[in-house]
Amino acid sequence: MHYLEPLFNPESVAIVGASHHEGKIGHTVVKNIVESGYKGRIYPVNPKGGEILGLKVYKNIFEIEEKVDVAIIVVPAKVAENIIEDVAKKARYIIVITSGFSEVGNIEGEKKIVEAARKHGARVLGPNVFGIYSAKPPINATFGPSKIKAGNVAVVSQSGALGIAMIGKAAEENMGLSAIVSIGNKADLTEVEILSYLFQDDSTRVVFLYIEGLENGREFLDIIRKRPPNKSIIVLKAGRSKAGARAVASHTGSLAGSDAVFDAAFRQVGILRADGLEDGLNWVTTIALSPPPKGKNVVIVTNGGGLGVIAADACEKYGLHLFDDMEVLRKTFQDVMPEFGSYKNPVDITGQAGGKEYKAALERAFKEPNIHAILALYCDRGDAELEDIKNAFIEVHKKYGDKPALYTIFGGEGATSIITALKREGIPAFSDVEDAVSSLYALYKVNERKDEGELEEIEMDEERIRKIIERAIKEGRRKLLAHEAKAILQAAGVDVPPFYLVRNIEEAVEAANKIGYPVVMKVVSEDIIHKTDVGGVVLNIENEKEAAEAYEAIIENCKRNVPKARIVGIEVTKMLPKGVETIIGATTDASFGKVVMFGLGGIYVEVMKDVTFRVAPVAKKEIRRMVREIESYPILAGVRGEKSKDIEAIIDTIYRIGMLVTKFEEILELDINPLIVYEKGAKVADARMSIKVGK
Ligand code: COA
Repeated sequence: MHYLEPLFNPESVAIVGASHHEGKIGHTVVKNIVESGYKGRIYPVNPKGGEILGLKVYKNIFEIEEKVDVAIIVVPAKVAENIIEDVAKKARYIIVITSGFSEVGNIEGEKKIVEAARKHGARVLGPNVFGIYSAKPPINATFGPSKIKAGNVAVVSQSGALGIAMIGKAAEENMGLSAIVSIGNKADLTEVEILSYLFQDDSTRVVFLYIEGLENGREFLDIIRKRPPNKSIIVLKAGRSKAGARAVASHTGSLAGSDAVFDAAFRQVGILRADGLEDGLNWVTTIALSPPPKGKNVVIVTNGGGLGVIAADACEKYGLHLFDDMEVLRKTFQDVMPEFGSYKNPVDITGQAGGKEYKAALERAFKEPNIHAILALYCDRGDAELEDIKNAFIEVHKKYGDKPALYTIFGGEGATSIITALKREGIPAFSDVEDAVSSLYALYKVNERKDEGELEEIEMDEERIRKIIERAIKEGRRKLLAHEAKAILQAAGVDVPPFYLVRNIEEAVEAANKIGYPVVMKVVSEDIIHKTDVGGVVLNIENEKEAAEAYEAIIENCKRNVPKARIVGIEVTKMLPKGVETIIGATTDASFGKVVMFGLGGIYVEVMKDVTFRVAPVAKKEIRRMVREIESYPILAGVRGEKSKDIEAIIDTIYRIGMLVTKFEEILELDINPLIVYEKGAKVADARMSIKVGK
């Protein structure tokens, strides 16, 4: 038995702050519990005693003779803080409906609630929640609407108001719920534990999760990865807007606005993310009502060419496969086709089609094993056929419900009435064809399982890496010097061309000779960030004479332009030939910890922010998807007859970076910018790295 079973299926509940006054939250909760048909023991608690809705009221929680499974707190925050210790002694789970905690800055009060509960082994849902509904007992321990239809969709919401509105919306959509849980401030129980319960709960098939943020992103991803094959999840995460994104960003830290990372993390584990409430609800209802498709072939059946074309376009946009085997299509539909109809997909049974024609065509579509999903469209002609159409849809759908079929009825009042009737019968029905297609897409997507691939061990000179990091930590340097960052990358097996740190002209010339011309020289100093601007970089050095001159020029420029800068030396390295400039980075995200980033360099990253992320470490299989995800991927794959660049070398570099930052937690941020990619190989031209110094 899951440890949260008593929360979702309690044998007894106490309502602390049960009110005698109708309309107050403490009254509504008792009323909803009673009206939901809850068969367990109900203990209203209120110092005034008496009776509420015919139930005996207990003057304090110790009057209750048993330890209750769930206690619901509906007294004001100050009172809640005072009584929490007593409640924690008498309850296994405590639902704190009360507001006025961390959401308004009362962090101490919230801490007190959780600490008191922990002390006595109780767990807390909330505070700042609307309660819980669970179909199993059944129990409606919320102060929301009293009537909730049981079904197979679980709603988990961080926002209370939205959760309550969802109850109403579910009723309107005729969507049955297995549970609805408000997680509020998530002071103790978070979505992770709630999901772990719902994913093993027999009555739940689809979870609709609304969140605004995550603190334990990795645990969240793990629970999603481990979900059983017959459980689906749709996530609506607020905060897609780019308002907070910086105008020009060219390093991983500023590109990784938390939403970009969320998006990538969701993609990584195969979470379907809804753009808005409307989409989310359409998707969830369709998934809850439809069997998973057995194959990719979609057929559109329509009475209007226009609607058919719109649907076909939408299918293309969402990547759905329109069945195009003409032979099978002809065989299936030809003899149920009116004179001017077309059995090509979209199958057009013409404007004169009535209930009889729809019934015949849909029956054929259901019966043909090569057809795996059906989009039935009807343009309302505003005549008496509507009733027949409705009956045809319901009859055929009920008879053959073994493949997904989604219905769009476009038109006026009549159309709306068919949609309502279909919904009442538990049939996915829409007024907009795009909604139907996007829902079918969601149904396909949600049934796909992602294989992220396996991590493989790689060799790293860990001792060398540790030494560099430790020295910097000892010296209190958050930013590593360029040659240190490069040395770490080299030790991690990344292809860094030879480089030397030199401190005089002789060393500079010797290093340049060793590397082979042309070479580059760059000043190494913690105090100089924009090296080129102060004359700290010389490119394309062709011979010994130029090497000596470059050394002198850099030292002179830096002394003149940044007199106070401490110069550690000059880095001499190979001048790399032209290739495609990419950027690979890593940063530490507040929700997911270490993440890696990939994009093309220059304007692609700075202006277009064409980058992509993954939570590290990432297996190569997933990195391959990541690399293909950027818009500018064709530049790497080879355009206009150019040969493809070495994508495997990019994948290997990202893999190593992911492993490096996972192994060395101290690395907070890292940028290889650029990593120059060739037809064969990819080389680091410049790198920076910052580490955690102190707490
Ligand atoms: N033990 C039990 N009951 C007690 C009590 C105690 N120690 N002290 C007082 N009560 C009783 C009160 O007498 C009252 O009952 P009554 O109406 O019969 O007199 C009842 O508890 C409620 O207390 P009251 O002071 O009237 O509070 P309230 O009903 O005005 O507000 C909350 C209580 C919890 C509803 C309110 O503080 C709150 O947080 N509201 C916001 C809730 C919310 O929006 N949550 C998030 C949703 S997403």
